[in-house]
Amino acid sequence: MQRVALVTGSSRGIGFEVARQLAARGDRVIVTSRRRESAEKAAKRIGHDSIPHELDVSREDSIDALGSFIERELRQLDVLVNNAAILLDEGRPLSSVPASDFEATFRANVFGPFLVTKRLAPLLRKSAQARVVNVSSGAGQLSSMTSYAPSYSASKAALNAITILFASDLRNARVNCVDPGWVRTDMGGSSAPRSVEEGADGIVWLATLPGNGPTGGFFHDRKRIAW
Ligand SMILES: NC(=O)c1ccc[n+]([C@@H]2O[C@H](COP(=O)([O-])OP(=O)(O)OC[C@H]3O[C@@H](n4cnc5c(N)ncnc54)[C@H](OP(=O)(O)O)[C@@H]3O)[C@@H](O)[C@H]2O)c1
Repeated sequence: MQRVALVTGSSRGIGFEVARQLAARGDRVIVTSRRRESAEKAAKRIGHDSIPHELDVSREDSIDALGSFIERELRQLDVLVNNAAILLDEGRPLSSVPASDFEATFRANVFGPFLVTKRLAPLLRKSAQARVVNVSSGAGQLSSMTSYAPSYSASKAALNAITILFASDLRNARVNCVDPGWVRTDMGGSSAPRSVEEGADGIVWLATLPGNGPTGGFFHDRKRIAW
């Protein structure tokens, strides 16, 4: 049976490449952006019957609207890639980060994946091949955390914690998080050493794990890394 996959923030960057690769491998992919036109444009480029839909992960009504659409029109979800995120405070010490930036970062990077996964959990529980991939960052590693981008780094550490908790909650699924490395995108900038293809590799690998694959882990280049 064809899998249905949702990739949040798949209008551009790493998310677009993940959606493109999953569609090329045979999944029916739901391509999302905060702007409907961007989702439609990306889905058209991806082809393979992919489905554009609006999604703002920082808004619960938007998450609920997408959940209802999937329940009504597709009645199935097998793969969830929580990729959408924002980076607002690069190079700033934590004490000078505006509370509004800290809150917006946690709303998109932590609350977003939590609410999306929670809303879609009933569909994922019904899947015989459920996979959840949380796109994290090396910046979220507690064991080597620096002041690189304080609210972003803290948000990714929290996303890693949520990954462990959902892995024990969604017993039928493989739930993991991944650091894609430093990738040339709007977020990563043009000096980054990795292409989007290289950044997407570990994410697609986790989204296509076999049923006996790992769950509750943090990976980089297909290898487990420290929290
Ligand atoms: N690039 C890197 O070097 C790097 C390194 C480590 C980890 N990561 C992680 O990899 C993931 C993808 O990063 P990227 O570099 O591809 O980022 P990007 O180029 O900035 O793209 C971000 C994507 O997320 C979407 N997005 C942003 N806020 C959203 C929201 N509130 N609701 C829904 N969608 C939203 C954007 O869509 P619209 O603007 O169309 O809505 C866009 O599709 C992120 O989780 C990031 O933290 C990236």
